Parts: sequence; structure tokens; C-alpha cells
Amino acid sequence: MKKVLLIGGAGYVGTSVTSHFLKNGYKVNVLDNFIYDNQFSIQPYLGDPDYNFYFGEIGNTHDLNRASNGVTDVIVLAGLVGDPITKKYPTESEEINNKGVKKCIDFFNGKGIDKLIFISTCSNYGLINENELADEEFELNPLSLYAKAKVDNELYLLSKKGKVDYAGVILRFSTAFGLSPRMRFDLTISEFTRDLFFDQELLVFDEHTWRPYCHVRDFARLLDIVINADKAKVDFEVFNAGGDINNFTKKMIIDEILNVIPNGKVKYGKQGSDPRNYKVSFEKVKSKLGFEPNFLVSDGIKELVNALEIGVYSDSLENKDKYGNFIIRKNTI
Ligand SMILES: NC(=O)c1ccc[n+]([C@@H]2O[C@H](COP(=O)([O-])OP(=O)(O)OC[C@H]3O[C@@H](n4cnc5c(N)ncnc54)[C@H](O)[C@@H]3O)[C@@H](O)[C@H]2O)c1
Repeated sequence: MKKVLLIGGAGYVGTSVTSHFLKNGYKVNVLDNFIYDNQFSIQPYLGDPDYNFYFGEIGNTHDLNRASNGVTDVIVLAGLVGDPITKKYPTESEEINNKGVKKCIDFFNGKGIDKLIFISTCSNYGLINENELADEEFELNPLSLYAKAKVDNELYLLSKKGKVDYAGVILRFSTAFGLSPRMRFDLTISEFTRDLFFDQELLVFDEHTWRPYCHVRDFARLLDIVINADKAKVDFEVFNAGGDINNFTKKMIIDEILNVIPNGKVKYGKQGSDPRNYKVSFEKVKSKLGFEPNFLVSDGIKELVNALEIGVYSDSLENKDKYGNFIIRKNTI
């Protein structure tokens, strides 16, 4: 039986992955330090005999040791996620996103695990020309502290090929959407949908910039595929994670939302603070692993509007910090 350690498993993606794995007969260990006081997010799993939570740090050998007892595979999700939070906390970012991840990559050598999957980001492509499509070989151009650390860790992991006893795999995630026990409204699709639902006037910058998106449930399914894939197929391979069908501009997202919330008020502005523009090719993950997303951007919008109508996120405007990566706990490290 597979027993997977999710480092950073109490987060937005990690909780969705936990749900998927428990449902599919895995045992799940989670190591997380609740950096956003996000303890609430693991409530659905506590008490499940196949779920074990370990409070601790990605870069702490003692914590890694406790959490890794009997695990067959490791997924590294933990970190300060996003450009704004890494800019706000550069010291913690260096400690966690740079040093912590590398310590973890080193720690698992010789522990007899099958695969170590490092979750990276398509943000690594940064700013590319309008008519170009970034495949895994495309030159990386990380623009933020966040993406620079991801690129650095990718290179570090790839340098371990032939030197460690596990198969290292890198998945460059698209920007996530979809409902999760640790909901984030600091991500484009969910933020735009929530704001328009609550009748806020939305100011959208650079509406023609492209970005790929992927539902958290599809990420969970892809991780399942990777964990069960022949080692030779994924061993020290990099995959863009998502699907061509979900390459969207901000304007295309707004148009989808307005199909559901026709009275939404939107204004457009030029040159916001985020210069990223990248359209990504997902041919490799499709041809090598047979992965294509089940959820379209429009599905994510509809499920979120449904949840908002039920009142699930009625506090999300006034309780902003609970629903995103804004403020970290004091004395985190
Ligand atoms: N959400 C996206 O749109 C997106 C896009 C591309 C890549 N990714 C990657 O996916 C992964 C998960 O993202 P997410 O959206 O779930 O983020 P998140 O912020 O919701 O979750 C991160 C989790 O890591 C934990 N954590 C932070 N520092 C830690 C430390 N030092 N030790 C232990 N745990 C720590 C946090 O408490 C949190 O539970 C990240 O690696 C991120 O870079 C996410």
C-alpha cells in the first residue's frame, strides 16, 4: 500500500490532494507548520486512521524524520507561495523556499522512498512572446523571488540524478483554481469570481496577458498518475502540469465569469505590477502520462459561484487573511 508524505499538505493544493489520496486507498502523512494559522484546513481528515498529521518544518531533520516513518513517496508542496508573500517576507522565503526545500531533497536520499515529487510553477517562464508556447525545454525567465527559488530548486534536484536512490520528478503547476478545504482567494479565477459575486467593482490590469490554469482536483489526479507511473517514465523528468485547453487571458476569464454573473462590474487598466505573460504547452504530460484536465475554467467558476450562493464564503471579504497568503505566524522559523 502507498503511504505518501505531503510536505505542506495543509495548504490549498495539499488538502485537495489529501482528499483524493484518502479516497483512493492511500495512507497520507502530512508535515506542515500552519504558517498562515491554517489549522482549520485539516479538520476533515483528523480521526481518519489513514491520516497522520505532523506539525513541523520542511527544513528540520528531526521533523522530517518523525513524519517520514514508512512513507513510500514524498510530495514537496511547502513554502511561501506567490510573488507578493515572498516579496513581503524575503528572509523567511530564503529560509523556507530555498534552504528548506534543498535540505528536504537531501534528507530523503537513502531513505528507500520510490519518488520525490517537487512542485514547481509555470511562473518560471515569466514573460514570453505572444506567439510562443513554452514547453519544458523553453528558456526559464523567473521574475520574482518566488519563481527564482523554484528554478534554483529544480536545478538542485536535477543535479541529484544518479546520486540519490529515489526518482526525482518536477511538476510545473499552472495557476490553481477550484474549491479546497483551505480556500485561497488570492488567485486570479477565485478572486475575480468572488469579487464580482459580491458586487465589487473589479479593476483588471493587462487583460490580454496569458496564463495557464488548472483545477486542484486535476492536480491531485496527476499526482496519483505520477506516483503510479513506471519509474523510467518520470525519473528526473520535468512536466508542465495542466492542459492546453486552460490557457486563458484575464479577459477570457472575465468573460466566463460574466456568463454566470452577468451584472458584474469590470474596468480594465494598463500596466499593473505583475508583468508575467506566458502561454504553456502541455503536450508532454498528455503524451507521456496520458493526463488531460477534467475541469475547465468555466467549471471552476460555476462550482465557486454555487458555494458562494450557499453562503460558504460569506466572510471572505472581511476575513481576507484567512483566505490567502498575506500574513505569516510570528516566530515561524
Ligand atoms: N496555488 C497555485 O496557484 C500554485 C501554482 C503553481 C505552483 N504552486 C505550488 O503548489 C504548492 C502548493 O501551493 P498552495 O497553493 O497549496 O499553497 P498554500 O500556501 O496554500 O500551502 C502551502 C502550505 O505549506 C505550509 N508551509 C509553509 N512553510 C512551511 C514550512 N517551513 N514547513 C512546513 N510547512 C510549511 C503552509 O502552512 C501551507 O499549509 C507550492 O509549492 C506552490 O509553489 C501553486
